[in-house]
Amino acid sequence: MTAIALSLKDLNKSFGPAKIIDNVTLDIEKGERHAIIGPNGAGKSTLFNLISGLYTPTSGSVTLHGEEISGMAPHLINHRGLSRSFQVSNIFTNMTVRENVRCGVLNALGQGYAFWRNIGSNKEVQTRTFEILDRCGLVDKAALPASLLPYADQRALEIAITIAGGADVILLDEPTAGMSHSETERAVQLIRTATEGKTLIIVEHDMGVIFDLADRISVLVYGDIIASDTPQNIRGNAKVREAYLGDEDLPEEIA
Ligand SMILES: Nc1ncnc2c1ncn2[C@@H]1O[C@H](COP(=O)(O)OP(=O)(O)O)[C@@H](O)[C@H]1O
Ligand SMILES: [Mg+2]
Repeated sequence: MTAIALSLKDLNKSFGPAKIIDNVTLDIEKGERHAIIGPNGAGKSTLFNLISGLYTPTSGSVTLHGEEISGMAPHLINHRGLSRSFQVSNIFTNMTVRENVRCGVLNALGQGYAFWRNIGSNKEVQTRTFEILDRCGLVDKAALPASLLPYADQRALEIAITIAGGADVILLDEPTAGMSHSETERAVQLIRTATEGKTLIIVEHDMGVIFDLADRISVLVYGDIIASDTPQNIRGNAKVREAYLGDEDLPEEIA
């Protein structure tokens, strides 16, 4: 049996009379790359807010590595290894790229940032910091102030900090929003290598990105998951094409 990283069971969220998330049940395997797609207003970000603890479900449960997390504070859920990036930037812009990642590594080791220590001499911290910089394509830029990084590299640094801090389930909400085509391609490549071996849950509009990156795709329409399957099967799913993809306006990648 495969291990389940994140499990949503009969999850509901209403704001007043409006039911935004409607009885969502979904298991995401450890190491899986899972995409959530759906029209604007479908409830994708709300679902992320329920998972990351920003919102409390009206009913239902969220379990992370088998432990109930719904109702827990966001920072406690974060301490259990679930991280949501691209919402609040956690980059220290006045520090270098390397220092940012090293802070994350020190945090994960539970040391905090002890400025009076010669932290550069700690071999384990150094090795781990380099590994993460390498994984995220940031070795060449390690000595740059974070504020000077191009947009796509800032996103890479956010993932790097997240991973340095010990996250193994990573939520990305529209990571390529506002990027040009070439930036998007680079960002996707970075996301792919940076999250290697981690569990990734991604909301993304760019269908090319989704169909290329995801192991499985869930289609959310009016707060309801109407299909959850491999990209191949989602492409051929009549219900999905009718409800969301729309026959007249199919992106090239999935037509
Ligand atoms: N805090 C909130 N209070 C009231 N309505 C909300 C709140 N958050 C989200 N919604 C509503 O939930 C619906 C889904 O929003 P959202 O999850 O942002 O959709 P998506 O990310 O799929 O575009 C929208 O109609 C939005 O107005
Ligand atoms: Mg959204």
